[in-house]
Amino acid sequence: MDRRFGAAACGLGMALSIACGGETPPAESPSSKTASGATNATNATNATFEAQAAEGQKLYAANCASCHGAGGEGGKAPPVVGVSQGALPLDPPTGAKYRKTQFRSAADVATFVVKSMPPGEAGKLTEEQYWAILAFDLKANGVDLGAKRLDASSAPSVVLHP
Ligand code: HEC
Repeated sequence: MDRRFGAAACGLGMALSIACGGETPPAESPSSKTASGATNATNATNATFEAQAAEGQKLYAANCASCHGAGGEGGKAPPVVGVSQGALPLDPPTGAKYRKTQFRSAADVATFVVKSMPPGEAGKLTEEQYWAILAFDLKANGVDLGAKRLDASSAPSVVLHP
């Protein structure tokens, strides 16, 4: 059950806190469909991490970027890209309003995000869409699960803070 993720970018084994350089995703050009505040609603199951990340990029742009920055660099809200520079810290940032839990693995981040993000609209996306957004975010942080999917069974082994 403990699935290991194999080919991680930057040759990192388990932990992506390893300095992988501040990889930021390509600045997302404002997508042509400025969806009216919402989900570009693809709800199919993506077969691979790659496919998830591709969909997640669009969903992130439509649902998260306004607060967390186009490249996850932060803005009105904390950064979500740049784990080696302090993004997604193990402990909730001081003064955190919603977050009370530690982020050890991608599963912990997922639990928080589904319950709390976007603020006031938690749960507006499907589970599959949240996984896609997280895949995109993890990819920007140097993680690559390749042909594997990011989901409830693989997320616990994507360790952010060992
Ligand atoms: C309206 C602004 C807003 C939007 C939109 C939003 N967030 Fe957030 N997000 C915040 C704020 C504010 C915090 C800080 C939470 C706290 O104080 O506990 C946060 C915290 C987070 C954190 C934890 C960061 C940390 O270091 O503790 C993650 C992960 C996150 N958001 C992901 C997302 C995702 C994914 C989406 C899109 C589905 C999203 N957010 C949409 C405002 C937003």
